[in-house]
Amino acid sequence: MGYKRILSGMRPSGRLHLGNYAGALENWVKLQDEYESYFFVADWHALTTNPAAAFDVKENTTQMIIDWLSAGIHPENPIFIQSQVKEHAELHLIFSMLITKERLERNPTLKEQVRDLHTDTMIYGHLGYPVLQAADILIYKANIVPVGEDQAPHVEITREIARKFNQTYGEVFPEPKTQLTTFSRLPGLDGRKMGKSNDNFILLSDSEEEIAKKVRTAVTDPKKVRRNDPGHPDVCNVFTYHQKFNPQEVPQIRKDCESGVLGCVACKQNCAQKIADYFAPMREKRNYYEQHPKEVDDILQAGIKKANAMAHKTMEEVHEAMQMG
Ligand code: TRP
Repeated sequence: MGYKRILSGMRPSGRLHLGNYAGALENWVKLQDEYESYFFVADWHALTTNPAAAFDVKENTTQMIIDWLSAGIHPENPIFIQSQVKEHAELHLIFSMLITKERLERNPTLKEQVRDLHTDTMIYGHLGYPVLQAADILIYKANIVPVGEDQAPHVEITREIARKFNQTYGEVFPEPKTQLTTFSRLPGLDGRKMGKSNDNFILLSDSEEEIAKKVRTAVTDPKKVRRNDPGHPDVCNVFTYHQKFNPQEVPQIRKDCESGVLGCVACKQNCAQKIADYFAPMREKRNYYEQHPKEVDDILQAGIKKANAMAHKTMEEVHEAMQMG
């Protein structure tokens, strides 16, 4: 285990899809063996775009954590919930004095979110999204933040806030680095980014039948109309899934698709089977955790305890540096 610490989180979105897995979770599972790791549910962040999301947080948190554990996140890592470590909120408040509103307004990820919400106004707490994220990261003095590309602007703001705090009050925080995931954008069944709101996703917990049904609807090369038409794998979503979940057959599939030997129906059947096989062990583990909710809760409680201890210690240093609080 390295001396460096990683921290990452997700907003509570319930059961995870293959895009969440390829974009983040898979990377967390790998990195946890190299670094001390903290993983948390960013439930306050869920409110920034929709305050009423509060009512779904509990169930969505449970489902998401079951997916984390089923995918292989070790229960010994601190796994916790943001709103159960109140110091995140205190540090967020302190950090909110160390950055200007103009700087926050330049954040491209937030701009995109606001555009998607189709409104001219912005919730005050939404503007502060990266400030809360900075508190999440720095309160554990994380060095590395494994996230998708869209999160890099938030980590950049985190670095600026760390620098500003250290200059103003004295050296307390490290400047964390983003570590991008390699497959950070898995297409959905329709070719857009895979997402819950697009209804184009496959869940980690979908059954073999559900996966087969969904892959059948996937958009392939529009020029390959009949079975024997030559296809163009590079524009085919199913081919992307093969690359991710069935890499050993990729050269053959490319050849047979391009030559017209392989039709889309058979190719999709094979793809669905490979995806189903890939996630079979996770479905089994999910079954186990669904039947042992107390175990999930114990893991969370232990994580919350560790996170609280660490956050408390950092806040003592913060108070000392600021000579107040
Ligand atoms: N913004 C992240 C997302 O939408 C979630 C998040 C909140 C996070 N705080 C964080 C990720 C701190 C990494 C580190 O996915």
